[in-house]
Amino acid sequence: MKDVDKKKKRTLRLRSQRGLTVRMMLPMALTCFKFNAAMSKKKAIAICGSISAHSANLSIIQYLSQLLSNNVELEIYHELSLLPHFNPDLDKENAPPAVEDLRMKIKNVDGVLICTPEYVFSLPGVLKNALEWCVSTTVFLAKPVAIITASASGAKAHESLQLVMETIGADLRKDTRLLIQGAKGKVKSNGEITDEATIQKLKDLAIAFDFHLHQVTDSEAN
Ligand SMILES: Cc1cc2nc3c(=O)[nH]c(=O)nc-3n(C[C@H](O)[C@H](O)[C@H](O)COP(=O)(O)O)c2cc1C
Repeated sequence: MKDVDKKKKRTLRLRSQRGLTVRMMLPMALTCFKFNAAMSKKKAIAICGSISAHSANLSIIQYLSQLLSNNVELEIYHELSLLPHFNPDLDKENAPPAVEDLRMKIKNVDGVLICTPEYVFSLPGVLKNALEWCVSTTVFLAKPVAIITASASGAKAHESLQLVMETIGADLRKDTRLLIQGAKGKVKSNGEITDEATIQKLKDLAIAFDFHLHQVTDSEAN
């Protein structure tokens, strides 16, 4: 008799626990479903600070593009070397076509990824030049940006890039900045990334950038 009571009690307790779990899980599941359903496709552009054909930074961008979710389309900008040298006299409404094209590309995307080496303790001239052409515009204003500096050392360029991004009003967060030191030892000449810790950091950055892109623009839309 006692055993039957115990069994009944146990069954009731299990049912109540199950009910509680379902009651707790359901709102979470609904929230996730709503979030995924509301997730729109985002566009981002990647700018590589190195124009070398065998750039480790370009390989990193290509690797990162595979880590982003299907809700992000990443276009790689290959025209840095086509930009004329920055000249304030030409920095007007009708700027040179390559400059206008760069500005429009940045304006029309939801976020920008910049991946660059360091040259002589600073940003590569080609990248700095492109950013100088954007200073008088608002194309970077409140734009989600991720930055990666992959270099031998890179600390100075990384710091400089953060300062430039802050100056032009980009929305740069802590979890979308990454400094990869000793880059040539971590990225093989065939583009393969061999360092596990770097792979993990890139995965984390991809998640954070993806989230940032959707958080900013989806919350604006709602
Ligand atoms: C002219 C020149 C200057 C460089 N100066 C630096 C430097 O100051 N700091 C640094 O970390 N690496 C420096 N490097 C090394 C590059 O950052 C490194 O080779 C990097 O991997 C190049 O990036 P990429 O493979 O994407 O082209 C320099 C390389 C060159 C060619």
